[in-house]
Amino acid sequence: TRLWRGVIEEYRERLPVTPSTPVVTLREGGTPLVPSPWLSELTGCEVHLKVEGVNPTGSFKDRGMTVAMSKAAEEGAEAVVCASTGNTSASMSAYAVRAGMRPVVLVPDGKIAGPKLAQAVVHGGVIAAVDGNFDDCLRLARELADTYPVALVNSVNPYRLAGQKTAAFEVVDDLGDAPDIHVLPVGNAGNISAYWMGYREYSADGPATRLPRMWGFQAAGAAPLVHGVPVANPETVASAIRIGNPASWELAVQARDNSQGLIDAVTDEQILAAQQELSGREGLFVEPASAAGVAGLLERARDGRLDTGQLIVVTVTGHGLKDVDTASAFYGEIRPFAIAADASAAATALGLTG
Ligand code: F0G
Repeated sequence: TRLWRGVIEEYRERLPVTPSTPVVTLREGGTPLVPSPWLSELTGCEVHLKVEGVNPTGSFKDRGMTVAMSKAAEEGAEAVVCASTGNTSASMSAYAVRAGMRPVVLVPDGKIAGPKLAQAVVHGGVIAAVDGNFDDCLRLARELADTYPVALVNSVNPYRLAGQKTAAFEVVDDLGDAPDIHVLPVGNAGNISAYWMGYREYSADGPATRLPRMWGFQAAGAAPLVHGVPVANPETVASAIRIGNPASWELAVQARDNSQGLIDAVTDEQILAAQQELSGREGLFVEPASAAGVAGLLERARDGRLDTGQLIVVTVTGHGLKDVDTASAFYGEIRPFAIAADASAAATALGLTG
């Protein structure tokens, strides 16, 4: 057994780095592929969950950020900027301090889960709350990077997708081949594009002998790829994927079509129900957006559009601790009941007796 070295050292020959690239890493990646007895039983398939919430800042964003930030350091950047629904800003800020750069964060005012903002703050991020949605923030970030000395590290930066494709490598390395279907949530559409790049690359000259179908799921109130047109005012409880005009639109459509896959919508109710089942049955607490893939798979299984016997991987993208307020909203006020510090009274109160 040996230590995991982070995605750049593990997959160096497949990433756009050279021996002179300074590696900015928090040893991201190497995340567990966890069997899901509950989803396997419900679908009649073999379902595994790729648990990305265990990355250093709690989401899959760290995979892309290690590469984008290493390249920014190589190019001599002193400041980095991103637009974000929360997780990118948390990841960028952590990797920026690591690299000695100044993180500049643009977020839609009032629409970011508190713990994600806290992450950006503790890592020294300069945070601007923009009067607009994520799509406005991204436009602004691009304009700033075009005009001022600050490097853009959103997923329009190709180094981000290069880093994120390593998740597909890990899935193949763990399973021995690509799955039949890979399911994941879709917001700005970078991740589905990156996974597809990774699977294609690994089947062209790596250990994979086949390609999966890519199944992406958007929130119903923020589903531009499903409707085929941008959504002016996206709305969903899953704030991480509240995006109306995804930057990687074309790449995501290619991933869908070339893999004979699909991109469909799930309602907020389905997302929250899936989140609840994952925490209550599988022991995995994920944030709402992360549960969109699971919600979509369940919907397909329920209406008979899923053949049994398939090997399926679902990426759950971010940790549940990133949005405790939304979880509290469906569990009600989180308050354990009070007891005296006495074993027999406690046993009675806790239902441990005969
Ligand atoms: N899940 C989570 C937890 C996310 O934070 C995001 C995107 C997605 C899924 C969707 O991934 O954008 O590649 O399709 N979050 C970005 C952010 C937009 O700013 O943190 P995508």
